[in-house]
Amino acid sequence: HWTAEEKQLIAGLWGKVNVEECGAEALASCGDSIWELLIVYPWTQRFFSSFGNLSSPTAIIGNPKVRAHGKKVLTSFGEAVKNLDNIKATYSKLSELHCEKLHVDPENFRLLGDILIIVLASHFAKDFTPACQFAWQKLVGVVAHALARKYH
Ligand code: HEM
Repeated sequence: HWTAEEKQLIAGLWGKVNVEECGAEALASCGDSIWELLIVYPWTQRFFSSFGNLSSPTAIIGNPKVRAHGKKVLTSFGEAVKNLDNIKATYSKLSELHCEKLHVDPENFRLLGDILIIVLASHFAKDFTPACQFAWQKLVGVVAHALARKYH
């Protein structure tokens, strides 16, 4: 459940997000964690095998498919922002995809959420107050939980 202030802090910051810019960066950084994941847990490579060259952080950041995917993920995040009171239902299909089809370890949803917060904080330093940070921390937690729902 959200307070009116939390809703306003989330919607207010989201209104400033340039999806293209932030998404690519968030996923490029996320790509770094995925890159580590790919080495430590080699079987996870099959998730992103269709993305082409992911052999180094530079390759990941320059990879147009990673960039396009970042936009997709952030656009999808926008659905959570629009449906704060209904996030579980909003991500029901995506949870099925990530859990049942892709078998993504839910820990990675949390990692991506943390990275998104860091990206938002660095882009919107002036507006990223402690209250705003708190509201967003809560949001990425709810999103991660909703995406992992089919595992529960
Ligand atoms: C695909 C959202 C986290 C792996 C997708 C798609 C969306 C999405 C919207 C496209 C679905 C479609 O095309 O129908 C999200 C959101 C996340 C998240 C909102 C967290 C906040 C992750 C993480 C991983 C991951 C952490 C892996 C470590 C994938 C893969 C695909 C995918 C492998 C399919 C990519 C492809 O082959 O095109 N995700 N995702 N996702 N996601 Fe996620």
